[in-house]
Amino acid sequence: MKTSYYCLLFLSLALANTVISDEYECSHEDLPEEFFKLSKTHIKDSNKRTKNAGGNAAFNQPIRIFVHYNFTAHDGSLSQPAQDRVRAMMTALTKNFQSILTVRRNPDPILINRQCENETLTDSSKPCFYQCADDARLCGIFDTPTEHLQRCFECNGNNNTCTETIRDGAGTEADLVLYVYGTTLFCSNGTIAYAGACQMEDEYDRPIVGIVNFCPLFIEGSSDDQFIFDVAKHEIFHVLGFGSNLYAWYRDENGNPRTSRDANGNPPFNAFGVGIPGESTIKIVNYTDWQTRNGPISKIVTQLVTPKVVEVGKRHFGCDTLEGVQLEDQGAGGTVGSHWEKRLLDNEAMTGFISSNPVFSNFSYALLEDSGWYKVDYSNASILVWGRGDGCGYATGSCGGYIQSKRAQNEPITPFCDFLNDLNNPTNLSCDSDRTAVAFCSLINFPFQVPVEYQYLNSGANFNTSSNLDYNFIGGRVFAADFCPYYISIATSSSDKRGVCKSGNPISNIIIIL
Ligand SMILES: *[C@@H]1O[C@H](CO)[C@@H](O)[C@H](O)[C@H]1NC(C)=O
Ligand SMILES: *[C@@H]1O[C@H](CO)[C@@H](O)[C@H](O)[C@H]1NC(C)=O
Ligand SMILES: *[C@@H]1O[C@H](CO)[C@@H](O)[C@H](O)[C@H]1NC(C)=O
Ligand SMILES: *[C@@H]1O[C@H](CO)[C@@H](O)[C@H](O)[C@H]1NC(C)=O
Ligand SMILES: *[C@@H]1O[C@H](CO)[C@@H](O)[C@H](O)[C@H]1NC(C)=O
Ligand SMILES: *[C@@H]1O[C@H](CO)[C@@H](O)[C@H](O)[C@H]1NC(C)=O
Ligand SMILES: *[C@@H]1O[C@H](CO)[C@@H](O)[C@H](O)[C@H]1NC(C)=O
Ligand SMILES: *[C@@H]1O[C@H](CO)[C@@H](O)[C@H](O)[C@H]1NC(C)=O
Ligand SMILES: *[C@@H]1O[C@H](CO)[C@@H](O)[C@H](O)[C@H]1NC(C)=O
Ligand SMILES: [Zn+2]
Repeated sequence: MKTSYYCLLFLSLALANTVISDEYECSHEDLPEEFFKLSKTHIKDSNKRTKNAGGNAAFNQPIRIFVHYNFTAHDGSLSQPAQDRVRAMMTALTKNFQSILTVRRNPDPILINRQCENETLTDSSKPCFYQCADDARLCGIFDTPTEHLQRCFECNGNNNTCTETIRDGAGTEADLVLYVYGTTLFCSNGTIAYAGACQMEDEYDRPIVGIVNFCPLFIEGSSDDQFIFDVAKHEIFHVLGFGSNLYAWYRDENGNPRTSRDANGNPPFNAFGVGIPGESTIKIVNYTDWQTRNGPISKIVTQLVTPKVVEVGKRHFGCDTLEGVQLEDQGAGGTVGSHWEKRLLDNEAMTGFISSNPVFSNFSYALLEDSGWYKVDYSNASILVWGRGDGCGYATGSCGGYIQSKRAQNEPITPFCDFLNDLNNPTNLSCDSDRTAVAFCSLINFPFQVPVEYQYLNSGANFNTSSNLDYNFIGGRVFAADFCPYYISIATSSSDKRGVCKSGNPISNIIIIL
């Protein structure tokens, strides 16, 4: 499991000439393993600085986020207007988070762990056997200004003669430092941006340093401030706590580790040095009644089972027995495990594929609180309509099973649909589930066979049974939503509304604005 991509599902449908781009998948280049390794800093052991008021006391301080921009690092190529837009959105977001999150304030300025020449150090308290390097290689890749770096001891090849050769830099007075870049590194295959936490403090393991990279292609191509705001907010959520490399470090409400630690205070690690979370945080579950068009099969899913998230889920889905909320299991390494399952929460902004009208809901804010690193003001959470009140069968089963049971009760199958569309000429337009855009049913005939576990339908609204329709090839266009068919907006961004949905009976109330 890895973390932190944000990915655009290409959906460039233009109603005027009814053309939809032919992209089904949105895979990415993988980030290197070292991107996901976290290092720790002893923020407490500064002997030179006075402690800030607040110190280790409870969560009584709004989070201070400091942003350092480097748009020239690597092949940074964002134009000035795009840089300005990113800065403006990041500034708005640091204020936004400051009003939502409180933390146990860092007692000292944040200093970045220095690297050693010819050595990889993840423990900043150790000296360099040879020499100290002059850079940080944040998240294995990115540099920071030297005045942000920690002091360093070097031994010149002899452990008995280690001396402090480099003093602490001034560091950064903040609770979180974000280093922001605009490089094309690891941006292929539709990645809009990516982010990750790189360094934690050693008292509660809260992430204190992270990187955010905006992929120039998309940022340059978008004049939509709301889009960039949402993308940037999504990325900051990854740094704050929504990442598969962070779950193992979560704390409970008393500040104790949720995953048991060894004598050195570490959770178990996988082969790449990434922490493996315990079952009270992440639970692998066997859904034994996953309905397909050929009957039930079993499917293994990954659920986040922390208390606030489960509470939000129970209330949202109307399912008192809910044990956890499923995480994404499709997409490239950066998408899997670090996002909500698209089928479950569709336009929640912390799913791994962007939808029109993304919303940051109580689910994502609850996750931040469940990390044990923040207290959250939920008043900033947006309403999520998708899946609301749809019950346990919806929350823990396939959309095929949900459709079957609704049909059996003669009830609408919303939020799903079963109108087989022609991708080049979609018809039966309707409103999407939160009634923010005109949409079409995403059920299509794929040019390839849909995986068996995602084949759901043996009949549908307009299925022509006298043609030799091959049901193995039918599925919803969004693979990350487990190929479930549902109404997808025809607009590709918030500034690109091609229709207006009004309340009431969908189809008759649509006003198409071409
Ligand atoms: C993009 O995705 C394709 C298909 O998954 C993969 O073969 C290709 O290597 C990727 N390109 C890069 C540059 O990662
Ligand atoms: C940005 O990164 C480059 C290359 O690492 C470095 O030379 C430059 O000083 C950095 N600028 C800032 C503002 O950090
Ligand atoms: C959420 O935060 C934004 C940005 O600070 C602010 O404009 C908005 O009013 C807040 N919304 C709520 C519901 O608090
Ligand atoms: C570090 O590695 C480089 C290249 O492998 C080598 O030339 C250099 O001598 C090494 N430095 C030390 C201090 O070992
Ligand atoms: C020097 O100390 C480091 C740990 O600080 C240790 O890993 C290394 O093996 C030691 N080297 C020698 C030659 O003693
Ligand atoms: C999931 O449960 C089914 C039915 O009990 C069982 O046949 C299957 O082996 C289980 N899968 C795993 C991976 O445990
Ligand atoms: C989010 O949760 C809070 C606290 O439980 C609740 O008061 C609020 O109504 C919820 N907001 C939404 C939009 O559901
Ligand atoms: C088209 O969609 C509407 C709902 O928007 C539905 O009532 C109607 O039955 C659909 N038409 C067909 C042929 O399925
Ligand atoms: C159904 O399919 C048959 C055979 O391909 C075709 O002749 C007929 O016109 C189709 N009916 C409709 C309503 O599309
Ligand atoms: Zn993401």
